[in-house]
Amino acid sequence: MSKRETVTVPQEEIAKQREYIHLLKESGLGKIKRYSISTFGCQMNENDSERLAGMLCDMGYSEAQNESESDLIIYNTCCVRENAELKVYGHLGALKHLKRNNPELLIAVCGCMMQQQEVVDHIKKKYRHVDLIFGTHNLYKFPELLYNASVTNGMIVDIWESVGLVAEGMPIARKFGVKALVTAMYGCNNFCSYCIVPYVRGRERSRSVEDIVGEVTALAENGYKEVMLLGQNVNSYGLDLGGGLTFAKLLKEVNKVKGIERIRFMTSHPKDLSDELIEALMDLDKVCEHLHLPIQSGSTKVLQEMNRKYTKEQYLSLIDKIKSKNPDISLTTDIIVGFPGESDADFQDTLDVLEKVRFDSAFTFLYSKRTGTPAAKREEQVSEEVKKERFEKLLEVQNRISKEINDQLLGSELEVLVEGLSKNSMETYTGRTRTNKIVNFKGTGDMVGRLVRVRIDRIQTWSLEGVVIEQVPYYA
Ligand code: 5AD
Ligand code: SF4
Repeated sequence: MSKRETVTVPQEEIAKQREYIHLLKESGLGKIKRYSISTFGCQMNENDSERLAGMLCDMGYSEAQNESESDLIIYNTCCVRENAELKVYGHLGALKHLKRNNPELLIAVCGCMMQQQEVVDHIKKKYRHVDLIFGTHNLYKFPELLYNASVTNGMIVDIWESVGLVAEGMPIARKFGVKALVTAMYGCNNFCSYCIVPYVRGRERSRSVEDIVGEVTALAENGYKEVMLLGQNVNSYGLDLGGGLTFAKLLKEVNKVKGIERIRFMTSHPKDLSDELIEALMDLDKVCEHLHLPIQSGSTKVLQEMNRKYTKEQYLSLIDKIKSKNPDISLTTDIIVGFPGESDADFQDTLDVLEKVRFDSAFTFLYSKRTGTPAAKREEQVSEEVKKERFEKLLEVQNRISKEINDQLLGSELEVLVEGLSKNSMETYTGRTRTNKIVNFKGTGDMVGRLVRVRIDRIQTWSLEGVVIEQVPYYA
């Protein structure tokens, strides 16, 4: 048996789930059922929600305008930071009265939070109006679980421990018509000391090149122009499949798909960023000039305690290498402030890295203590007050740098992939540059899904504004 077969859900199991989809569709005959899904957290969760929506669509469900008109409400949860968890509890509490008014309503909670036993116990005790709880590993079994929840009165709980499975062949319904999320790999093996993800998403499992390329080809045939390949650490893509497969090799194959204009990916771990990938970024025409490379902290001491396996100097020289090969690349990062034991000097190191690298933008987070992770046991927790002070300072420095970088784009002509109307507007359209900057401009409906050239005439911190000067012919 090849390594590949050991990680795939058998097709008979997928066929069984499709039977349940059929059963649910039949049982809903004569009544249009409506669902709403709220997604918390990262793009991986967004992609999982698209899978749930795909299954529901095949069951005959349609999307509700709001929760109060829904027959099924799903919360797809995130547990990376405490705030996200508190939000879910808040929402669940508020659903009590909806359930009282409509006892037929089904409430399901899934995702990363549910992979923690104490969370499940808490929901069982305090939120007894929930009908179905499931985790991240058995998402493909949703039809069977929903069927069971529909014919049972009590709460159905189905959580799996980490198991190395990849499910192919289930339906998916996507949110955007121009760009799509495509999971390249699941799970993470890194165990950064603050992070809960490896505990709730399990070990790394890569999808096969054929399955990924097949999905991207189908997307292109349906008019999608951009794909974002997802993984907690795409740099270790393929290692579990063997045969010398790497993420750069996957990119080469995806780059060949006709009709796709742009390829993005996230996230990369600095310790695994290979020369082969840096070359691929430079050589492959569809791979965009943008790299998200989380540093987390600029202090070598803190990085070591975070179990990140690189030093400040190694990160900086990696950035030098990337910039020397790709001078036009846009760089973004993730930073945590207030990791246990972070001193003022450590924080200064983080500010120093911001000044040296000059990221286009940074996602900044207050350290959040996650039970079960090594960092949560540390005694030297930083006070909330100091964390907030450092957070404000970090934002101030990064906002200035982002604005300075964007200011240089004034008057330039940039290629923009048009995504659609900008929020609350009838004539302002929005899209992104290859470097992932948002550009707003006056346009027309026929531009959606096309590449246009825009001359930038106004700079904001988070977006650019401009005038369309030309539609770019397709080259794919
Ligand atoms: N506290 C704060 N931020 C965290 N992240 C992960 N775990 C935590 C935590 N416990 C951040 C990291 C990661 C991003 C997705 O979330 O910066 O890159
Ligand atoms: Fe969490 Fe680190 Fe894995 Fe990213 S690489 S998901 S921060 S453990």
